[in-house]
Amino acid sequence: MKAVVLCAGLGTRLRPLTFSTAKHLIPVANKPVLFYGLESLVEVGVREIGIVVSHESRPVIQNAVDDGSRWGAVVTYIEQHKPQGLAHACACAESFVAGEPFIMYLGDNLLPDGLRAPVELFQKTGANAVVLLKEVDDPTRFGIAEIHGDRIVRLVEKPKEPPSNLAIVGGYIFDRNIFESIRRIKPSWRGEYEITDAIQDLVSRGLLVVPYIVSGWWKDTGKPEDILDANRVVLEGMHSAIEGQVDTNSELDGTVIIAPGAEVVDSRIRGPVIIGSHARVYHAELGPYTSLGDRVHVIRSTVRNSVVMEDSVIENFPTPLRDSLIGRRVILRGHAGAVGIRLLLGDYCEVETGT
Ligand code: G1P
Repeated sequence: MKAVVLCAGLGTRLRPLTFSTAKHLIPVANKPVLFYGLESLVEVGVREIGIVVSHESRPVIQNAVDDGSRWGAVVTYIEQHKPQGLAHACACAESFVAGEPFIMYLGDNLLPDGLRAPVELFQKTGANAVVLLKEVDDPTRFGIAEIHGDRIVRLVEKPKEPPSNLAIVGGYIFDRNIFESIRRIKPSWRGEYEITDAIQDLVSRGLLVVPYIVSGWWKDTGKPEDILDANRVVLEGMHSAIEGQVDTNSELDGTVIIAPGAEVVDSRIRGPVIIGSHARVYHAELGPYTSLGDRVHVIRSTVRNSVVMEDSVIENFPTPLRDSLIGRRVILRGHAGAVGIRLLLGDYCEVETGT
């Protein structure tokens, strides 16, 4: 089975981080969100992966994923020239899948339970489509499916009056019929060709569309708080591994992962925490739920429930950082006796004091 991974979305809700990277590459527990998806595809035996990119996302995604050989896969890049919705992105991959059944996966979604069970369901039922679903508290934010017995009987994209609380999560398995349905749909109120409408068309054509309800957690990482939530859950499932240096004045508590070359001196680390390679943590307090990327320096500062990306420096910062997403090469530096704060912030940055 092949896979089509959608990585064309711009990620405007994750600005300013997405000015210089794609939302699919934001790290969760020090690994880009997209890599979790690629791993679960390879785990179910997928070797040929088509990644649908936009003109903007292409260079960064290609630079991170390359030819896919790191995962033992072969990656083909497919460009979606205009952002016209998930169904349009899927249609861009029609010649890549060449009539075979395929998994379609949204590159900013995290589904840690993997894809084995839905793939088996697709094979066992001989369905034309399997759609992954999960109960949610806020069904107006998602595509929603109504099920009857073991079939999906209706799907609606972001309904005002949801027929159920079963959200369509970012995983689908389709046979070739989806392309005919995509050709039959019209753009939605938001001007997009919705994959939800194309699947509704499969149902209307009397084809077999089967639900797979995800039992574990699922996250669509479109917003900053989603990244922090995902970071918390992934860190909670990890095991301690101390490969870097920790001095005897430091205290470690709970799950702590310290990558090779990192150094922790006179600091308190309250896990779960992950510290990237060659990071420096001196006279600092970290955690819980904190990820420091490679080469990050945290010196005489406190960081809690946050993701700090590579090469950033937090030094003598006078107030604890919490619930923060810090991009690459950011400098947050305090000075003794400071009487003000100097900011050099790009577009869409946010600075907020908390309680
Ligand atoms: C898209 C789909 C929606 C699905 C969601 C899952 O929404 O259109 O059906 O529930 O992904 O993440 P969007 O992220 O485009 O708002």
